[in-house]
Amino acid sequence: MNILVSGGAGFIGSHACFELLDAGHDIIVFDNYYNSSPEALANVEELTGKSFKIYECDMLDRASIEKIFEENTIDAVIHFAGYKAVGESVAKPLMYYNNNITGTVILLETMAKYNVKKIVFSSSATVYGVPETVPINESFPLGVTNPYGRTKLMIEDILRDVCVSDKDWSVVILRYFNPVGAHASSKLRENPKGIPNNLMPRLIQAAKGEVEYLTVFGDDYPTRDGTGVRDYIHVVDLAKGHVKAIDYIADNKGAIEINLGTGNGCSVLELIKTFEKVNGVTVPHKIVERRPGDVAECYADPSLAKELLGWSAVLGLEEMCRDSWRAVMYEA
Ligand code: UFG
Repeated sequence: MNILVSGGAGFIGSHACFELLDAGHDIIVFDNYYNSSPEALANVEELTGKSFKIYECDMLDRASIEKIFEENTIDAVIHFAGYKAVGESVAKPLMYYNNNITGTVILLETMAKYNVKKIVFSSSATVYGVPETVPINESFPLGVTNPYGRTKLMIEDILRDVCVSDKDWSVVILRYFNPVGAHASSKLRENPKGIPNNLMPRLIQAAKGEVEYLTVFGDDYPTRDGTGVRDYIHVVDLAKGHVKAIDYIADNKGAIEINLGTGNGCSVLELIKTFEKVNGVTVPHKIVERRPGDVAECYADPSLAKELLGWSAVLGLEEMCRDSWRAVMYEA
């Protein structure tokens, strides 16, 4: 298929571009490089030996989005583009609503205009808010705690409404758990601009000595060692899930929500220990207060992905830690 990838230069987007090309699809990418760089796409081309069209453009710029549809025959869209920092979204909600929501509406309107009605959307486990139990399956109640999460949930709702209004649409909503790791070549990796928020990039900063220590947010949660439990998933597994989702939308109409996680919960201290063991480094860390808004435990019931997409994660925590560190060291 000819797939338009929005936000294809980002962490998950660039890995998905690689896997799509590897599976024999053709891609067209657009990105405004707000939180990414053209280098990731050059590396995808180098790794696959395939070239593709890249548009530097913003999804709020309707004329530029239209131009992409005008100049290409597109069968489906994978929509990664969007702002994604929880804290920033609390400080700048309008920026988040304008970019994520308005941008998506422009993309969907343009798709409809050009009769492209297949889309895979990059959602997040954040739409489950504070889950009452774990593992979390797709029929759990939805609720969000910050503007970033609200944009994900609002876009999910918009997509569901579009499917109700027009039975020709095919929508797969992928709810990611916690992506970490990097491509085996080390040429694609997470490269956040500014101060990172997520555990793995912060853990790496501490391992490299860029910060004195990693702050562990709370050790008094009702979990096995008191620290927060999450479902870390290797970005390569996650990227492969998108190829399966593209196969699925080729044959199915309507909207479906699917978790992409491993189903295994891992605590902050377990992640630190595994990282230290696998990479032979020390991660200085210090327990501090809980971070407001964090939940104790969040991990997936990944059975629907297996049933509908024939997908499940194969890479474990050790590979995630090894590949995250190797990619950073490769860069150094
Ligand atoms: N943590 C620390 N120290 C840090 C950073 C994180 O102890 O410096 C802890 C957190 O308290 C949490 C765990 O590590 O227990 C994971 O935190 P992340 O910030 O890496 O990830 P979250 O699970 O909080 O959030 C992630 C994404 C969100 C998404 C959410 C959905 O960052 O975009 O998953 O579940 F919404």
